Amino acid sequence: MICDWKIIHLFITLLWTGTIASFDPLSVTGIGVGAGSMFSANWNKMFCILGECCYEIPHNLTMLESSLKEHLFGQHIARDVVTQAIKAHFKDPPPGKALVLSFNGLPGGGKTFVSQFIIKSLYKSGLQSQYVHYFNGRTHFPLKSKTDIYKIHLGDWIRGNVSQCGRSLFLFDEVDKTPEGVLDGVKPFLDYHEHIDGIDFRKATFIFVSNTGSQIIAEKLLEFWEKGGKRENLQLSDFEDLLRKGLFNEKGGFYKSDTIESNLIDHYVPFLPLEESHIRQCIEAEFHHRGKEIPHEEVYKEVLKGVTFGPGSLRLFAHSGCKRISSKVAALLESPLFTG
Ligand SMILES: *[C@@H]1O[C@H](CO)[C@@H](O)[C@H](O)[C@H]1NC(C)=O
Repeated sequence: MICDWKIIHLFITLLWTGTIASFDPLSVTGIGVGAGSMFSANWNKMFCILGECCYEIPHNLTMLESSLKEHLFGQHIARDVVTQAIKAHFKDPPPGKALVLSFNGLPGGGKTFVSQFIIKSLYKSGLQSQYVHYFNGRTHFPLKSKTDIYKIHLGDWIRGNVSQCGRSLFLFDEVDKTPEGVLDGVKPFLDYHEHIDGIDFRKATFIFVSNTGSQIIAEKLLEFWEKGGKRENLQLSDFEDLLRKGLFNEKGGFYKSDTIESNLIDHYVPFLPLEESHIRQCIEAEFHHRGKEIPHEEVYKEVLKGVTFGPGSLRLFAHSGCKRISSKVAALLESPLFTG
């Protein structure tokens, strides 16, 4: 559908410019050219109401800040770093390189959630946007033996898409399941080049998501906690170096990777393990989301029964964060506790 509109739009634009060029004697002067681009600007606007246009990116940056404040629990570092980095990247004049973020931490901590909020606030059509490209390490690049082919394809896709819209976003999920070497295909586009073959990659955004580093993050948090430190006082700088080294040395997409060695990743964002209080916030949000009243203590306990905590007998952190809370709440709402 979007594709059809694009062709119609192109056709009409060509028709207009063509008409003005061939019939309007003023076209050779500045006035004619001005009128031509005015018409074309109007057509562009009309088209953008129906579809989505590259120049409309970012769609709504304020929304990003408010969604993260409202819906992301226990991740003060990620919340602040992401908001600031995205805002800075979408300022004029554009920055000197593409924005490259690495999201790291246990499942259920909010990595996917935050990626989705970023996409929804930057692109009018959200996750369906033609300017958003999603790659999953396990499903898109399953075979180690095909690494070289994947790498070439990836380079071609990024080049092709960014040449159509500089503000394209590339999301790489399950980086730890991506064969080593594939992501080297991305490296040339992350650097401080003004152009590569006439294409400017500096406005693009790249996000890499993986569970790599979760151990490092948990250990750091535990160490801090044992010294009596407060979670809220932990900062990005407490994790960045550890994560950079961890990603480089753990098997997976960034194992011994040039991308890390060349410092092309702008921010290594840690997603901290969630504590019981955060899981409770997730449960509450889930009830709210379903238009239900805030539940009784008994209900919290019922949902929490299905959540396992560690390490060992400390029982501080939820092993899979808020990951299955949504389905647990949904099932509970169908149970005799609510229906009977
Ligand atoms: C854009 O990326 C997609 C993969 O997300 C790819 O299938 C498509 O061919 C690319 N487009 C161009 C013009 O390269």
